[in-house]
Amino acid sequence: MNNMRRLFSSLRMFGLATTLQMAVSPLRKAYHSARFGNPVVHGPTLWLATWRALRARNGWSPLPTDAVQPGAVRSHEVHGQTVIVTCEHATIHITILAEDLLRVQLQRPGEALDHFSYAIARTDEQWPPVAFSIRRGEEGIDIATARLVCRVATTPCLLSFHDPHDHRLITGERKATAWHGAAIACSLQLADDEHVYGLGEKAFGLDRRGRAYTMWNSDPNGAYAPGTDPLYLNIPFYIGLNNRRAYGLFFDNTYRSRIDVGAQAADTLTFQAEGGPLRYYLLYGPRLATVLERWSELTGHMRLPPLWALGYHQSRWSYTPDHRVRELAAQFRQQRIPCDTIHLDIHYMDGYRCFTWHPRRFPDPAGLISQLHGWGFKVVPLIDCGIKNDCSYAVCNDGIAHKVFCTYPDGTLFHGPVWPGDCYFPDFTNPATRDWWGRQYRSLLNMGADGIWNDMNEPTVFGWGADTLPDCVRHDWEGNGSNHAQAHNVYGLQMARATADGLAALRPGRRTFVITRSAWAGLQRYAMNWMGDNVSTWEHLRLSIPMMANLGLCGLAFTGPDCGGFAGDCQPELLTRWIQLGVFTPFFRNHSALGTADQEPWVHGEPYQSINRRYIELRYHLLPYFYTTFWQCAQSGMPMLRPLFVHWQEDERTHSLDDEFMFGDALLIAPIGRPGDNQRPVYLPAGVWYDWWTGQRYTGAHTVEVQAPLDHLPIFARAGSVVPAWPVMQYTGERPIDRLTLHVFPGEGQSVLYEDDGETLAYQDGAFRITHFNLNIDQGLLTIERQEEGSFVPMWADVELIVHGVDGVETASADGQALTAWQYEEAMHSLHCRAPWAQKYTFLFTPSVLQ
Ligand code: GLC
Repeated sequence: MNNMRRLFSSLRMFGLATTLQMAVSPLRKAYHSARFGNPVVHGPTLWLATWRALRARNGWSPLPTDAVQPGAVRSHEVHGQTVIVTCEHATIHITILAEDLLRVQLQRPGEALDHFSYAIARTDEQWPPVAFSIRRGEEGIDIATARLVCRVATTPCLLSFHDPHDHRLITGERKATAWHGAAIACSLQLADDEHVYGLGEKAFGLDRRGRAYTMWNSDPNGAYAPGTDPLYLNIPFYIGLNNRRAYGLFFDNTYRSRIDVGAQAADTLTFQAEGGPLRYYLLYGPRLATVLERWSELTGHMRLPPLWALGYHQSRWSYTPDHRVRELAAQFRQQRIPCDTIHLDIHYMDGYRCFTWHPRRFPDPAGLISQLHGWGFKVVPLIDCGIKNDCSYAVCNDGIAHKVFCTYPDGTLFHGPVWPGDCYFPDFTNPATRDWWGRQYRSLLNMGADGIWNDMNEPTVFGWGADTLPDCVRHDWEGNGSNHAQAHNVYGLQMARATADGLAALRPGRRTFVITRSAWAGLQRYAMNWMGDNVSTWEHLRLSIPMMANLGLCGLAFTGPDCGGFAGDCQPELLTRWIQLGVFTPFFRNHSALGTADQEPWVHGEPYQSINRRYIELRYHLLPYFYTTFWQCAQSGMPMLRPLFVHWQEDERTHSLDDEFMFGDALLIAPIGRPGDNQRPVYLPAGVWYDWWTGQRYTGAHTVEVQAPLDHLPIFARAGSVVPAWPVMQYTGERPIDRLTLHVFPGEGQSVLYEDDGETLAYQDGAFRITHFNLNIDQGLLTIERQEEGSFVPMWADVELIVHGVDGVETASADGQALTAWQYEEAMHSLHCRAPWAQKYTFLFTPSVLQ
C-alpha cells in the first residue's frame, strides 16, 4: 500500500521517466553488485545476503570473540611528539599535539601508518611542540603533559586519560581495541553521571546517552521523523561531561560505523566501524569552552559569512516560473517584511540539469536576478551533485571528457537516478574534479547568483534499497585511491568544499555562501548546512533545538531547520511560533516542500502576519549582536546557539535542558513549542536576568513561570551585558546604518561588538573593529567603559543607549559630559538616551532601583 502511494506521489512529482528509473534501480544495483563484487550483495545468495546485511546494519553484532587485540606491551619509544608503544600484535602511536590534545592510532601488522583525514585542518607539524614526560610506574606507562596524562596499562595494553591535578579519570578504554578482518572496534568508559553530546545531526534530544547511532550519511527518503537514524550528516565526535569536567573524543574514521552510547552496557561507549583506521583524538577541557576551542583548531575555524546571510531567507520547492519569484519579492517589500535572500529550488533548471536554466520558465535569468538585486535581494540557486546522463548536455559531456565521474572498479561509469533521471556523480575526492566542479559555477555567478545551495549529496540515489553508490565504486582519495565505503561520508563535505573554493576563485576577495545538506567534520571551513527535510509539526519545532545545539558542539554552528517545516502544511500558530524561534536560529530560512500550502510570513493574515513581521524585524534589529556571535564562533569555536551547560557546566539542571538555549553570551531564549501554550516555565541559571520586553529583574538558579501569549517569545538578558542593535531595515545594506543602539542590562560583566564591511575579506587584513564593553555597578552607579581595537570605521555616527530594568535616573554622563536628552519607557522600565561614542558612560540610579 505504502509502495503504491509512493509510486503515485513519485509519478506526480517527478514524471514517468524518473519514477521508472527509481523502480528499476534496486535490480540494476543488484546486477552491478553481483558483477563487481560489492561485499554487501553477492552472487546466488543475493537476497539472503542483502537481508542479512541490512539486519546486521540495524542490529550491529559485536566483533566475534576471535577478534584480534594488541595484547601486552613489549616496549615503547619516543619519536618527536609521538610515543610508539609496541604490543604483541600491533603498535599504538600516541601523538601529543597540544597539552590537552592527543591522537591515538592503532597500526596493525603490515599496515602503513596513515594520518590523512578530510576532517583535520592542521597537520602535525603545524602544532607547536609541547613538553611531555614519560614515567614507568606500577600502573603502567604515564605520558604526561601539564594538562593531561595518558596512562598505558601494559598487560594487556589499555589506555586511560587522567587529569594531572587531581589524578581523576577523564575516560579510558574499557576493552582493548580489537579488529576482525577490516572491521575495528573500540570501547570507552562512561561515568555514571556522564552526559554525552555531539555526533552530528541526530533527530533526538540533547543527551545521546542510552542509544546506539549509525554514522552513514543518508537521505531518509522524503522527510524524517523524530528518532530516524541516520540522517544526512553524521560526525563521530562526542563531548563527555562528567564530574563537571568536559572532554571531547573524535573517532576519525569515515566508514559506515556505529556508536553505542551506553545502550548495550550503561557504562560503555563503543565505536565499531566496517573498515578504516582505528584512530581517535582526545581533547580535554576541563572547561567545555576549551574543548570547543581545540576542536575548532583541529578541524578548522568557521568561515565568516557575508552579513546578508544572517538575514531572513525565503525558499520553497519551487518558486517557478520567474514571474512568481518577482511576485514573491514584491510581496516582501509591499508587506514591509524584511528579507535578504530568495532561494531557487530545482525547477529553475532545464529538466533538473545542473548549471542550466529552464528556457520557458526562466527565459532571462540574468534580467531576473538583476531586478531582484535592484530590490535588495540576494539569490541562491540549488545545485545537486548528480549530473544528468544525457549526451546532448554539455556539462555531462565535459565531465566524461575530463574523467570526473565515479566509476566501478573496471572503469565503467556508475550511474543512477536522482531528480533529472539517470545521473553520473562527480568524484569530489579528486582535486582535479573539485577544480572542474568549481569552474562550472562561472555562468551562474555571471548571471548574478550570490550563493549556492548544494543538495542530495549524501549522495542520494533513488531506489528502494540502500540508496547511495555501492561500496565498490572507486574514488581518487587525493590520488591514493579508495572506494565508496570509505568516501561516502565525506562526499557532501568535499562537494561543499569544491563549491566554496570554486566561488572563492571566481569572485576573489568576496566571502562565499554555500549551504549543504550532507557533510562531515570540518564543514565549517567551507560552508554551512541546513537540517534537511523536517515536517511542519510542533514536535519538529521542539526537536530542532537539541539538533542545532549538538551540531554546534560538533563545529557546525551555522545551521538551522526549515523554518515552518518542510513536509506538510504549516498551521498559522505553528508558523508564528517557528518564526519566533527562527529569529534565534543561526540560519533563518523558511522552506517548504512541493505540494504543501504556502508558508510565507503573511499567508495566514492577521494577527499572525503582524507578529511574524515584528519578529523578523527583531532579527534585523539585532544583526550586530548576531554578527558578533558569528565572529566569536569563527575565532574560538563557541557556537552561536548554545545549550545552557556551555556556560553553566557545573549546574546539573542544565545538562539535559533542551527547550531553551543561549544565543551568544547575553540572551537566553525559551521558545514556545506546544500548540495553545501561552505560558511556560523557564529555567534561569545562576546570576541576574532581565526580561527583554519588560525589564523585570530575576535572580537565577530558579525556574520562573513566564506568560507568553502568541505575540510573545520569552527572551532574557544576562545582567552585565551590552547587546548592540541597528535600526530595522528591509534588507541588509538598504541604506547606510546611521545609528548604533546599545541595549544595556545593568550588572557586572563584559561584552563585545565586532564590526567589519560584512562582505569582503578585508577583515583578514585588519579592516575590522572590536569594541569591548566593561560594565560595573557600585551602589546605584552604573559605568560602561569601552576599549577598541582595529582600524575599521563603521558608518553610524549616532549612538543610542537603552538601559533596561530601571525606573529612575539621577544623573547620566558620557565622558564626564552630562546627558540630558533622555526619556523613560514605562512599559519596558527602560531609559533611552542619545549620546556621543564615548569612552565611558555613567548612570547614577535612584538607589532602590538596582539593589
Ligand atoms: C531535497 C531537499 C529539499 C529540496 C528538494 C528539492 O528534498 O532536502 O530541501 O527542496 O530536495 O530540491
